[in-house]
Amino acid sequence: MSGSTIIPWVVGNWKMNPMQANAKQLVQEFKQLLAQHDIPAAQCHLAVAPVTIALTTVQTALADAARPVHVVAQDVSRIAGTGAYTGEVSAELLKDSAIDYVLIGHSERREIFADDVAAVQAKIKNALTAGLTVIYCVGESLEQREQGIADQVVLQQICDVATVISAEQWQQQMIIAYEPIWAIGTGKTASPQDAQAMHAKIREGLTQITPAGQQIAILYGGSVKPENAAELAACPDINGALVGGASLNAESFYQIARAFADNK
Ligand code: PGA
Repeated sequence: MSGSTIIPWVVGNWKMNPMQANAKQLVQEFKQLLAQHDIPAAQCHLAVAPVTIALTTVQTALADAARPVHVVAQDVSRIAGTGAYTGEVSAELLKDSAIDYVLIGHSERREIFADDVAAVQAKIKNALTAGLTVIYCVGESLEQREQGIADQVVLQQICDVATVISAEQWQQQMIIAYEPIWAIGTGKTASPQDAQAMHAKIREGLTQITPAGQQIAILYGGSVKPENAAELAACPDINGALVGGASLNAESFYQIARAFADNK
């Protein structure tokens, strides 16, 4: 038991997966697992982040789950509102479809789609203004870790966005996900000690920025699987997991959620 009073979050990031039929099956299997052995909502929040085109379908499919499973967008436009912006989905449009959560700043978006600080700030600002809860992803590269600047990089990523977040928004609409880039999709997880050390630094940084610092959930992401979930969950400043690959298997995702519900 970690002793934390923050209810953990276990969030599945499906990335650009799976095909419709598999998504349907995944949701059905996950619902069955929850129906057989529920994970009480008071012990763990659950969410999945499907591709944009599947957000509302998955939301409908999850509506009759034994407990709430929230649906999260994987990204949002840097442009607010509506208008002539081909290919974009704004925060207001997500909210209008009752999608209340969004991932922002995932390293794949920063690296592959050139989401720079200005883009991340604009996305967070729009999302918070539209009333969404933001899961803000931070994390260092292997090179940065080897250079001994991992803490600095991660804290800078938090400071980068602090100017666009009010005290009230920190308290009510912000979740942080620490994902060391070298651990994403590689099978290499940060050791619970290293992850806890970074989470404690993030917590310290957050408490300097906002009075809500002690209450903000800080999730760990990067090759989380059933085998390492309990150890990570037992760390005091790890308040959940952002799960990529293992969230595409209902049983694995369920076991990770179970580990967080049981060990917090
Ligand atoms: P992974 O991905 O669990 O497959 O490492 C995590 C993420 O990128 O959110």
